[in-house]
Amino acid sequence: MAQQPEWRAQILTRTRIGTDAERASLVQIRDDFLLFYAGTIGFVFVARGVRLINEQRRGMINLTYPDRTIRVPKGLSVLEASYRHRVPHANVCGGKGRCSTCRIRIMGDRSGLPDPSLREAFVLERIGARADRAVRLACQLRPTKDIAIIPLLPPQVGASFVHSKSRTHPGEERYVVSMFVDMRGSTQMAADQLPFDTVFIVNRFLELAVTQAGGKVNQYLGDGLLALFGVETDRRSACRQALRAAAMIAVNIKHLNRGLAEAERSPLQYGIGINGGEVILGDVGSGENTILNAKSSSLRRCTK
Ligand code: FES
Repeated sequence: MAQQPEWRAQILTRTRIGTDAERASLVQIRDDFLLFYAGTIGFVFVARGVRLINEQRRGMINLTYPDRTIRVPKGLSVLEASYRHRVPHANVCGGKGRCSTCRIRIMGDRSGLPDPSLREAFVLERIGARADRAVRLACQLRPTKDIAIIPLLPPQVGASFVHSKSRTHPGEERYVVSMFVDMRGSTQMAADQLPFDTVFIVNRFLELAVTQAGGKVNQYLGDGLLALFGVETDRRSACRQALRAAAMIAVNIKHLNRGLAEAERSPLQYGIGINGGEVILGDVGSGENTILNAKSSSLRRCTK
């Protein structure tokens, strides 16, 4: 059809393809855009080169993770270093210093590291890790010397973790009082009472006393429980809280036994053990399965 002069006269009109000058102008615009595009790509490479030279002038440091050591320029944040070397690292807020999921523990010598900024100090305070100077936020810490670190949360931790746990325990040594409550004669109790009653007793009379006294129920152990005191208080308060909880449990069970006696049912027997001492306190597990774990090294008897 292009060979036919009539067809060409009909199709190649000025309104359809413009004048020679207009076409030349369009070609010029296209070429300008291509040049700009190529220039932008070239600029990225040049900028990278300049950054590399600057970083090497500033000096390099070693950043040691539990499974590898990487060499990074001074002044880079630990999280940026993880990104750059593709080390998986949790960062729910993307490094804005809001979520605390990038938190790390610095192993060994911490001298010479920059102090936490106001933002970092605020977030560490919020998660209860301000007192432990070895815990830092990877997105805020810009080390200037070789350090060894351990990321404290698994890389896949998500926003649900941040929203579900306002306060976490990254691992610290502190004085904690643990209280074991054991309902004695549980076989007899199970024979005399419905399982629901047993659950009710544990929930109502043991847990309530622990929480009202200021402690935390840490584990349910059959018909009893393990409670911790001092997770957020000093040792004196922790001891007092535990003794108060024990007294409240005694009062509660006495009250309950009066009711059982009226119903001609066997009274409940129980034992309480309280110990206080230095423990390593920290969250273990991940996601929904995280629990606070107190690992004792030298428990001393507080009272019994
Ligand atoms: S990544 Fe969110 S505080 Fe560091």
